[in-house]
Amino acid sequence: MAADHPSVETPIIHNLRNSKGHGFECVVFDGLYMPPALMKTEPPEETLESIRDIELHDDDVIICAFPKCGTHWVWEVVEMLRGGVIEYRKQVKETQEFEIIFKKGIDALPSPRTLNTHLYLRMLPKQVVEKKIKCIQIMRNPKDACVSFFNQCRDTLAPAGFEGDLAEFTEIFLSGQMFFGSYSDYLLAWKAELDRSPGQPVLKLFYEDMKHDPVKTVKDIARFLGLAATDQFCEEVANACSFKKMRQADKELKEEFDIIKFWKEGAIGYYRKGEVGDWKNWYTVAESENFDRIWNEKMKDSGITFKYSL
Ligand code: A3P
Repeated sequence: MAADHPSVETPIIHNLRNSKGHGFECVVFDGLYMPPALMKTEPPEETLESIRDIELHDDDVIICAFPKCGTHWVWEVVEMLRGGVIEYRKQVKETQEFEIIFKKGIDALPSPRTLNTHLYLRMLPKQVVEKKIKCIQIMRNPKDACVSFFNQCRDTLAPAGFEGDLAEFTEIFLSGQMFFGSYSDYLLAWKAELDRSPGQPVLKLFYEDMKHDPVKTVKDIARFLGLAATDQFCEEVANACSFKKMRQADKELKEEFDIIKFWKEGAIGYYRKGEVGDWKNWYTVAESENFDRIWNEKMKDSGITFKYSL
């Protein structure tokens, strides 16, 4: 990935399209490819750089994940647990996402705030580390994450849309030539950043474990957040936040949020399939083996392993 860091006055647009003309145009922010639409240069409190200076509240919780790893799911669980009632938020999680609403938007949010992000730790408010703000990190096996990301981009309008096929997208995903860069780089960077911040309270969740035992996951989250939630309430939260129920709630009661109106007409949206192992419906054995080879080579010293089926 390009290492340049354009000043906010002169964001350079990198054309990352492949030889067939499929792919993305990105800007680089702090070494990470980002969608140009997010690279605002003013006002200062609405730039990516403004995020570093956000004043955090002691009870802020931050959900951190690479795109397509289950942020919507965990965000709703955390909101419901903290609200203490089985009620979906009318707002979408993007209304509390750092790189969408920046400092100005976050400053205007009342507590308790369930903030969320796809950014690296070094790009988040300095106070995350200084004040030891609780973070929940979600990880998902890369083949399902890639297939999920492909489906999102295929159903998205330009400039974030993707016109190529899954083979092309997978190459782009594995090389990180797209917005939010490479998933393996993301995981390695977070690991290194957390190693440098001992004592940072982080709950690490895997999408596959959440699918396997959602009630346990909800209980783990409640315990991590110091909430006195009963077993029965945790079961009710897990049930209300099942894939089917959340998809229904999304259709019926979520308010529109202009910034994320990027779906093509008739697109399925964020709640597509919600399964572990859907990648098997998309990759041949040879493609899967090639994916594993590239992924495992990059991640071999990370200590992070995934389940690819349940
Ligand atoms: P699929 O495209 O594989 O279906 P994110 O929220 O980070 O954008 O992740 C989106 C992925 O999480 C999508 O995966 C989506 O279906 C899945 N997802 C959303 N809510 C879910 C839930 N309640 N249970 C299981 N998976 C869920």
